This record gives sequence, C-alpha cells and structure tokens, in this order.
Amino acid sequence: MIITEKHSRILRYTHWINVVFLSLMVWSGILIYWANDAYFKIPDPIAEKLSLQYKLAEGLSWHFFIMWGFLINGLVYLAYQIFSGEWRELAPRLGTFKDAVLVTLHDLHLRKSAPPMHGKFNAAQKLAYCGVILMAFGSIVTGIAIYKPVTMGWLTALLGGYEAARLEHFILMIGFILFVIVHILQVIKAGWNNFRAMIAGYEIEKK
Ligand code: HEM
Repeated sequence: MIITEKHSRILRYTHWINVVFLSLMVWSGILIYWANDAYFKIPDPIAEKLSLQYKLAEGLSWHFFIMWGFLINGLVYLAYQIFSGEWRELAPRLGTFKDAVLVTLHDLHLRKSAPPMHGKFNAAQKLAYCGVILMAFGSIVTGIAIYKPVTMGWLTALLGGYEAARLEHFILMIGFILFVIVHILQVIKAGWNNFRAMIAGYEIEKK
C-alpha cells in the first residue's frame, strides 16, 4: 500500500471555498432573478417554498459581497495553477478532444476500453475542468458588464449589449449547475479514495 499526495492544500482549500461561494452566488442570483424573471417563470409554490419572493435587496447585497470572495478565491487558484506548473495537468493537448469522446463513451458503457491517461486527469476531466474555469471567467466578465453597464459600457457593448450580457450571465449559471450535477455523479462513480483525496490530499494506491 502506498500513500501519495494527489491534491495540494491550496488546491483543496480553494476548491471547497469555491463550492461555498458558488452556491451562495447561485442562491443570491436566483433571488435577484425572481424580481424580473425574464427567461422563464419560477412557479409561485416553488418560489414560496424556497422563500425566493421579494428578496431583491437581500439578493443584491449577498451577490455583490460574495462576488469579491469568488473572484479572489478564483485568482488564488489560478495563480497557484500557473506558479506550481500544475496547469500542465489540466491543459488539453492535441488528441484530448478525441480522447474525451472515447472516455465519455466508456463511462456510458458504450465502449469497452478507455484511452490511456496522461497525468492526473483523463481527457474528459481536463476538458470539463478547463471549461469550468473559463465559465468562471465568463461569469465575472458578464457580471461586470451588467453591474456597471455605463462605466464599463465598452465591455457591455462588446458582449452584445445589456440584455445579451444578462442572458449570457444566466446561461453560465445554468452551465455551472449542469457541471456540478455531472461532477458529483462522476465523483460518486470514482469512489471514496478519489473523494478523500480532495479532502485530505492523499490517495492510497494498492501495490
Ligand atoms: C459538493 C460538490 C463537489 C464535490 C463533492 C466535488 C468533488 C471533487 C473531487 C473529488 C475532485 C477531484 C477529482 C479527481 O481527482 O478526479 C474535484 C476536482 C475539481 N472540482 Fe470539484 N467538487 C464539487 C464541486 C465543484 C464545483 C462547484 C466546482 C466549480 C464550479 C468544482 C470544480 C472542480 C475542479 C476545477 C476540479 C479540478 C481541480 C484541479 O485539480 O485543478 N467542483 N472535485
């Protein structure tokens, strides 16, 4: 039995802090959305059960407070990835897209073998994790565009105007929810050793 370090302390801390901040951002975002539900109506009984009604001011205060934490935590994670060189574990290379399709087919039991892993993550994980980092960046940029549409008018215009930026911000939130659902299913499938590594940092390899 060999115990090896899988995720560093800083990576684990930023990951779990992000889970808390992102949940608060989605929750406060929904409080804001309820006040002007432009894309679909949240049914009244659901809104009432989840206490989403008439909380615009509360939603805005939480959203504008937590966004700083979300941003700073994201920058710490990114700086760590760059300076530790761990970004190499995530960066897709030629062939990652094809391998990601093969990994997905294997996970869906439509293909017998999975392509060999290069490093810590398989090809599908690499794409998913890089994708979610880009989505976080997109949320911040679209968020700034709708937070300060006059001061940052050039950015809002670049994103297609206020209405478009609002829709993009909303779509990214849906994307996060879909990512988290698949991510948690994959974590359950990968098992305890993998999950424990994200909490304690180490992984046990049986030799
Ligand atoms: C309760 C919810 C969550 C659980 C249980 C969870 C669990 C995990 C685990 C076990 C890993 C390691 C995967 C591996 O080694 O193969 C991981 C990695 C990762 N998770 Fe999560 N996660 C959660 C929520 C999130 C959220 C909300 C995000 C971002 C939107 C996220 C983004 C990531 C990323 C980017 C990695 C790769 C980290 C790296 O090594 O750079 N996770 N997660």
